[in-house]
Amino acid sequence: MTTFGRRVKTLETKDSTLRAEPVDGTPTADSLVASVTPPEYSDPQPTVPPEKFNEPKSATVPVLDMAKLEGGEQETQKSVDSEPLPRQGPLDEKLQEIKVSVFNYLIEAVDLSQLASLEHSEVREEISDIASEIIGMRGFVLSAQEQQHVIEDICNDVLGLGPLEPLLARDDITDIMVNGPDKVYIETKGKLELTDVKFRDAAQLMNVCQRIVTAVGRRVDEASPICDARLLDGSRVNVIANPLSVDGATLTIRKFQKEKLTLDNLIDFKSVSPECAQVLEVIGGCRLNILVSGGTGSGKTTLLNCLTNFIEDGERVVTCEDAAELQLKNPHVVRLETRPANLEGAGEVTMRDLVRNCLRMRPERIIVGEVRGSEAFDLLQAMNTGHDGSMGTVHANNPREGISRIENMIAMGGFNLPAKAMREQIASAINVVVQAARLRDGSRKITHVTEVIGMEGDVVTMQDLFVFEVEGEDADGNIIGQHKATGLRPTFWDKARYFGLEEKLANALEASNV
Ligand SMILES: Nc1ncnc2c1ncn2[C@@H]1O[C@H](COP(=O)(O)OP(=O)(O)OP(=O)(O)O)[C@@H](O)[C@H]1O
Ligand SMILES: [Mg+2]
Repeated sequence: MTTFGRRVKTLETKDSTLRAEPVDGTPTADSLVASVTPPEYSDPQPTVPPEKFNEPKSATVPVLDMAKLEGGEQETQKSVDSEPLPRQGPLDEKLQEIKVSVFNYLIEAVDLSQLASLEHSEVREEISDIASEIIGMRGFVLSAQEQQHVIEDICNDVLGLGPLEPLLARDDITDIMVNGPDKVYIETKGKLELTDVKFRDAAQLMNVCQRIVTAVGRRVDEASPICDARLLDGSRVNVIANPLSVDGATLTIRKFQKEKLTLDNLIDFKSVSPECAQVLEVIGGCRLNILVSGGTGSGKTTLLNCLTNFIEDGERVVTCEDAAELQLKNPHVVRLETRPANLEGAGEVTMRDLVRNCLRMRPERIIVGEVRGSEAFDLLQAMNTGHDGSMGTVHANNPREGISRIENMIAMGGFNLPAKAMREQIASAINVVVQAARLRDGSRKITHVTEVIGMEGDVVTMQDLFVFEVEGEDADGNIIGQHKATGLRPTFWDKARYFGLEEKLANALEASNV
């Protein structure tokens, strides 16, 4: 008799057969699903007897039917004779086979639900111990490094997001994009690249998607194939499954950056010049209403987060987001998040609901993660009615377009306002538009700091204070350019004086005019 792990299970090893027996006789299949759902490979019998490991593969790989995910029984067998097993991440074919076997023994031998009460790190340790024992007992011949590799992969499958785990552990990755089981792209340093990470099959990918969304109380299936969710670490996730996503489930993860970038970081990355950053500091400090505009992944949220650093500690701030990404250092913050409708189509809380509600929460500043609909109107109202220093982001390619987007959102929201009145609202509400962009070399820059100065006839007038001018490209294809001050005097000068920031503003503008 051998004892596997410390608290999990005692296993009989007679005739080299691993047999499971619960320690206290209370296995709970449901808690297993809730906490440590194993990926369902999932032939209860080992598919490859150990002595055959070195033979050419002619295995039967069980494919999980979606019905099984939903609690049904069907499991279909797909023959992969003469078809190589798909590679999973960096494991080669032989290791993959061993992994499948060890995994099957593990599932059969151990009641994973017993692990539910343990800490995540303890579970990992426990599973590693058991897996090494299985490897030893079954006589798999592996180098220490290979063994570690196999065990790590098993732990990732049982506890985490399978093949995505190594990517999630890397801090240099900003986005992970899974286009079906065979194509996983990442973004590092602003550039997209294809990785060699692959899912075993569509079912494993779907299983990972399901695991992500069930953690936040949602599900993806044919009836509701689109879902937003968040990983435990705060990373933002979007899943779109078959039939909407034609070539297999598509998973997009905006990885949560543990250390949010500050304006100083942006200066180091040459995303902004020190003088322009100082002007942004004044803009944030003297309670101007700011719209951060930019394309997808251009750094809008990061910039918004930087600007919130200049909010004074005493101010009450309410943030409204679709998925809470902002990390304010301010001590007095209320964070609100929207909610999609449930399966019955009920219970949706929109951004507009949140913005309207937060007006009743005595906010001094309202921060809207992304303005994309009729909430634009409520945000403008708030900006015009004493909630100075409110901020939001908008998807647009330049500051003027940012303003027109807001106008369109209001028009689309069904507010019956004449165009001129709408623009007057916008011109008096928004003081500054900061434009972020991802350039073709992958670098992110603040390309405009533009002030909204009022109306001339029917047109909202704006003046650029800083503009990023592209001068060329170096030998490595990196774009060279400079943040240039236009030399115009900001109309918020008086406000800067009122908040004691006049000198800072004057110095920054003077330094940038040299
Ligand atoms: N100036 C910068 N230099 C380098 N990396 C940056 C910079 N700004 C942002 N990033 C990184 O780029 C990624 C995308 O940034 P962010 O989430 O702010 O973009 P976004 O415009 O809000 O995207 P989305 O449109 O998806 O909401 C993040 O991982 C962030 O850390
Ligand atoms: Mg964003």
